[in-house]
Amino acid sequence: MKTLIVYYSHGGNTGAAARRIAEQTGAPCAALTPAAPYPGEYKPLAAQAWQEIQNGFLPPLADIPDLTGVTRLLLGTPNWCGTMAPPVAAFLAGVSTDGLRILPFCTHGGGGPGKIAADLQKLCPGADIGPLLSIKGTELAVEDLRAWLAAL
Ligand SMILES: Cc1cc2nc3c(=O)[nH]c(=O)nc-3n(C[C@H](O)[C@H](O)[C@H](O)COP(=O)(O)O)c2cc1C
Repeated sequence: MKTLIVYYSHGGNTGAAARRIAEQTGAPCAALTPAAPYPGEYKPLAAQAWQEIQNGFLPPLADIPDLTGVTRLLLGTPNWCGTMAPPVAAFLAGVSTDGLRILPFCTHGGGGPGKIAADLQKLCPGADIGPLLSIKGTELAVEDLRAWLAAL
């Protein structure tokens, strides 16, 4: 059983969750990096994110983590406009997830996970998708993390 953590984080919250998960599991982490960086300021970032999500645009990535031999994927994304951030959708479009066990996690700003779980299911119809761990900002309780990892 080989486990890999793959995540995208723009502001650091999802990255912080990924590091917590890595500490608990000992699994390696791979951060997704868009080839063209997103704007740092919120307004242009939000406008670009909204456009990309509306158009189903998949931003090219600097590189795609190698899933060779990986059987379990812990997949992290921020909630952007109610769904996963486009770099995560771009990653999923670039790999085969058939037969993979996927445990998703997301961070959000108070709106909850939106339709991340439903959209993930659509993008990975051949994967065995477990429960979604939804984290407000960086508020991740140890018990919630343990309970989620028990589904691994
Ligand atoms: C473009 C954009 C769109 C967002 N949309 C939502 C949203 O729809 N609902 C929500 O609760 N939070 C939303 N947020 C807040 C982020 O989900 C939250 O700050 C998250 O923890 C950021 O993760 P990161 O620090 O790993 O990038 C949005 C943030 C950005 C930048």
